[in-house]
Amino acid sequence: MQEGNKNHSGSSPDVSSLPIGIFDSGVGGLTVAREIANKLPNESIFYFGDTLRCPYGPRPLAEVRTFARQISAWLSKQRIKLLVIGCNSATAAGLEAVQRELDVPVIGVIEPGARAAVKATTARCVGVIGTVATIESGAYSQAIRSLDAGITVFSSATPRFVEMVEEGLRLDRNPFEDIMAQASSIYIRPAFQEIARDYLDPLKRCQIDTLVLGCTHFPLLTPLISSIIGSDIQIISSAEETARDVAETLARRGHAAEMGHEPVYRFATTATDLEEFSALGSAIFGRPIRDSQQVSIQELEKAL
Ligand code: DGL
Repeated sequence: MQEGNKNHSGSSPDVSSLPIGIFDSGVGGLTVAREIANKLPNESIFYFGDTLRCPYGPRPLAEVRTFARQISAWLSKQRIKLLVIGCNSATAAGLEAVQRELDVPVIGVIEPGARAAVKATTARCVGVIGTVATIESGAYSQAIRSLDAGITVFSSATPRFVEMVEEGLRLDRNPFEDIMAQASSIYIRPAFQEIARDYLDPLKRCQIDTLVLGCTHFPLLTPLISSIIGSDIQIISSAEETARDVAETLARRGHAAEMGHEPVYRFATTATDLEEFSALGSAIFGRPIRDSQQVSIQELEKAL
């Protein structure tokens, strides 16, 4: 490993008080950030949402890898002690490249999600839904089958779920919007419910007992997904297992924030509408996001 090529972030004595960096193509990774903030209340977090280039899912893996490398390098320059790639598409495309380039531990969301699914399934038949990039990469099937080769994995790309979440969150902020989907915590257009059924019905017929939400946007659709797939199928999001990995990694390295350390939450985004980013983000993070820093694509490109 060539240490000289790496982006350096945390070698000073006060490393434990540095933030955990997390990024996603937009606000979806805040489902992971929220879990980390809940599980590790003393840890500061620096979240980056690449809203201007969202969605990542339909893009070629090589392009998503470049985005992941740019954002990781940018966050690393802000000084972080650990990086979480809070996006399945970016994990599938760029985890290894980013791990090679950064000098801090880098955790993706696919391996933790796969582990949680392997722990949960008794039928050894697991469904995975995600973006086209994630599903076509085969990263989930590989990760699950490397833990238990006897598990059958049925994967299905459900790209419009990302759009449903983004739109649902936006419409939900409209006080005049009166058609709330009964089965969901966010607004879902009736036409989207049909699409969700078309996506999930074939998986239901595969006799799976566990369904992995292989996209960090999807936990916001859990009530809708569960109502279609059936309450007897366990729904797995990688957020909880990822937060556990973060806790263990920090403890092992002696880099956990001290008890009583007051956490600082910072946010940066490529979004042009900072107000909207903060409003949507606050709803997911479960805490108010007040000041978000705007970062241009040129600045990200320069970081690499
Ligand atoms: N949150 C991203 C993921 O986990 C998906 C959204 C996108 O397509 O950009 O893959």
